[in-house]
Amino acid sequence: MSARSIEIKSNEQIRLMRRAGLAVAEALNVMGSAVRPGISTAELDVMARSVLADHNATSSFLNYGAEWGYPPYPATVCISVNEAVVHGIPDSRRLAAGDIVSIDFGAIVAGWHGDAARTFCVGEVRAAAASLVEQTRQAMWAGIAAAARAARVGDIGHAIEQHAKRAPRRFGVVREYTGHGIGTSMHQPPDVPNHGRPRRGARLSKGMCLAIEPIFTLGSPMAVTLDDDWTVVTQDGSWAAHWENTVALAEDGPWVLTEPDGGRAELAARGVRVSKLAD
Ligand code: MF3
Ligand code: CO
Repeated sequence: MSARSIEIKSNEQIRLMRRAGLAVAEALNVMGSAVRPGISTAELDVMARSVLADHNATSSFLNYGAEWGYPPYPATVCISVNEAVVHGIPDSRRLAAGDIVSIDFGAIVAGWHGDAARTFCVGEVRAAAASLVEQTRQAMWAGIAAAARAARVGDIGHAIEQHAKRAPRRFGVVREYTGHGIGTSMHQPPDVPNHGRPRRGARLSKGMCLAIEPIFTLGSPMAVTLDDDWTVVTQDGSWAAHWENTVALAEDGPWVLTEPDGGRAELAARGVRVSKLAD
């Protein structure tokens, strides 16, 4: 496969990617259950490493960047708190009640990658923050449902952007980071922007696997990278939420590889039936 061509997966390869997806789903579930006031983000990273070991998996994130001379990513999880948008590095910081925390995790099993993110509320959070988290989650599902029906990548971004526009509050839609193709490497073509025009962009086809990952903010969509070379924060200090799943577009429908139920419940609520591969 050339670096710029889209990798098409067989059903058998999609089943292998499911193993990576389940490792990611379990790690996110373990970390999400541990989110509480007082836990440090480094402690969450330790939990994720042990889930990797349980699944004979390795990290998609650890040392990421080294290949092209960028400072290697030093952890297995990206943990981004409040105004952090993505790529927060786990450290001794302790979560506090009222925080929101985005946890992004990627795993490799038998050479195939899974990549997903969830944003959790730490105890009670203010109403605007809770709404940001929930609407970003729903936008991800709108994007996944669109991918199931869509002809082109622009249909996915359009659905995500429309969800933001129709939400009860005005959210910033971060444009500097996009979803992506995924398979034998974490980031593959095509890019999957969180905005777009219907029937524009790369054509979707059976056997593609995509990471769909909206990032919304309570203010400006502009983001800047801190001096640690990784942590991305909003320019205006407003809070951000990030949800992501890895989705296979199988012959007979989508399979959300990083959800324990394959996306069945959330997609049924949106009129989409998942692939028989998920049975
Ligand atoms: N999971 C991120 C994404 O969705 C990438 C993580 S960056 C890394 O694209 F350095 F941690 F790998
Ligand atoms: Co991703």
